[in-house]
Order: sequence, then structure tokens, then C-alpha cells
Amino acid sequence: MEEDLRRLHSEAHEALAAIRAPQDLEPFRVKYLGRKGRFTLLMRQLGQVSAEERPRLGKLANDLKVALDEALVLKEAEFGAGAAKAARAGEDLTLPGRRQPFGRLHPVTQVMNEVCAIFEGLGFAVAEGPDVETDFYNFEALNIPPHHPARAMHDTFYVNDTLLLRTHTSPMQVRTMQRERPPLRMIAPGKVYRCDSDITHTPMFHQVEGFLVDRKVSFADLKGVLALFIGKMFDPKTAIRFRPSFFPFTEPSAEVDIGCVICGGSGCRVCKHTGWLEILGAGMIDPEVFKKVGYDPEEYTGFAFGLGIERIAMLKFGITDIRLFYENDLRFLAQF
Ligand code: PHE
Repeated sequence: MEEDLRRLHSEAHEALAAIRAPQDLEPFRVKYLGRKGRFTLLMRQLGQVSAEERPRLGKLANDLKVALDEALVLKEAEFGAGAAKAARAGEDLTLPGRRQPFGRLHPVTQVMNEVCAIFEGLGFAVAEGPDVETDFYNFEALNIPPHHPARAMHDTFYVNDTLLLRTHTSPMQVRTMQRERPPLRMIAPGKVYRCDSDITHTPMFHQVEGFLVDRKVSFADLKGVLALFIGKMFDPKTAIRFRPSFFPFTEPSAEVDIGCVICGGSGCRVCKHTGWLEILGAGMIDPEVFKKVGYDPEEYTGFAFGLGIERIAMLKFGITDIRLFYENDLRFLAQF
């Protein structure tokens, strides 16, 4: 009996030492210490031992069992307290955990933040205005009177006779100039709306308006600021081209192209084989706009520009269909 006890004891300790995973602890406990376990069965045989031997062997059996119990507790602690419990509940803690998915900023928001950060670095202040605008701020004050042909370019969503969804962020030029006096250095990011939808247009998109008003501001200042911006946003060596254009609220006006970031200027589908990509409209603020806000056009000059954020995001990330931004497909969004 004594020999059986000691042999079982050393066998059990060896088996315990060999355990490498917490889920093996419970079968071990059942096998040796459970109600029908080998220790328990052996101790039941004590009844057959002679009366003189029984106290000594009983104590020995008990001591060995307690030692094994303690060793098991220590082993459980090795795996961590929760591990043994989990193992008993049939969970396997060696399996990889379930990750909590991280959300992230929408690519348009990322580019918007980047554009704003660049201009803030140049000392521009940020202002935001309403998406529902009056006809006055969206058109009249920007030198676009009723029936002006430029209105046709805007595909406006009207709320009623005098309210509309702003078609550009330029109304913020007027709102800011009414409220403040030069010198002004502002950007106005936000949503704009046009009734238009295809692979390069969505009915809602984002613009950043920028403008600077002071004494003796020249077209060269506009060029310098935009060149700095484009160099930071794209490659510092990106080619820039100013093309004469027309906006009722700037004179002279230009559309600004950059050398195609996809093909490097040699011609591809994205730049329609011109080697150039249009990224913004700009110009010197028209004296008529200054008159509307009570600035003296003889005293002040200024420049303004408006850039489309989706357009820049598409070029930066090589996206060919603008509608992808607004379909909320996680397979698309998770790439940014
Ligand atoms: N508001 C013009 C547009 O949306 C862009 C622009 C802004 C042009 C400022 C000149 C000056 O097309």
C-alpha cells in the first residue's frame, strides 16, 4: 500500500510537471484527484489495511494528496488564475483573441485636415459658414446678379426663392469681409452642393476656400502661396501651370493645373493625355466684391482660391471614381 501510494504520487507529479497548456489541468485533476480519481480510489483501500498500520498510512496518503493539491494550485497560477477557470469552462486561452476593430478617419476628412494644416502653418485662420445660404451670399455679393449666365454653371439646389444649398465656399469671402477689416488671411472648409452626379461629380462634395486681403497684395503672392501649398500637398517638384479663366468674383482669374501625378506628365487616362490636372480656381478678388462689403478697392487688393477636396484625395490616393467616397463600403474605407 505504501509503495502504491508513493508510486502514484511520483507519477502524478511527473504528469503535472509535463502539462504545457491550461486546458490540460482539468483532465489531470479528474484523473488523480477527482471523486473517481486514482488517489481517491487508493485511499478507499485504506479500510482493508490493518488497524495498526491504518493511522500512519492514512496520514501519509493524506499528506501526499495535500501536496498534490498544492502543486496543482501552483501550476494553475503559472498559467494565470483566469486561465485554469477558463479551461474548466472549455475555453482555450491559447487561441488568438478577437480584436476590437478600429475606426479611422474618412479619406476626405484626412485630406481636408491636411489641407487646413498646411494653410494654418502659413498663418491662415479657419472659418466655417452655413451650408444653407442666401442667394445674396452665394451669388449677388459675388458679382453674379440674377439671370447672369454663370448661374447656369452651378446646378443649384434651391430651398425656396431666396435660400439655397451653397454651390461653393466663396460666400465665406463675403461673410468674413463684412465682419472683419483687412489684413485678412482665411480659409473656409466645408460641404458644397451641386445637382450633378457621375464618376467625377457627387451632389455633395467638399471645398476649401482661401483668401488674403491687404494693401498691395499681388498675383505673385497668390502664385507663391499656391506653389507652397502644392509642394507640400504633392511632391515638392510638382509642376504648376496657371491657365487664364473666368470667375465673376475674381479678375484676373486662373485655373491652376499641376503636372499629372499619375503619369508624371507623359500623358495617361487620368489627365486625358494632356499631362496636366486641374486642381483649383483662383484669382484677384474683383473690385465689385470689395464694393459690396464696403472695402475701398483703391486701398485694398486680395486674392482668393477654391479647391476641391475630393479631387485632391482622388489624385493623392489614385481613386478613379468619386462615388466610392460616399458608398460607405468598408472594403474601400478600410484602405485609408
Ligand atoms: N468658387 C469657385 C468654384 O467653386 C472657385 C474659386 C474660388 C475661384 C475663389 C476663384 C476664387 O468653382
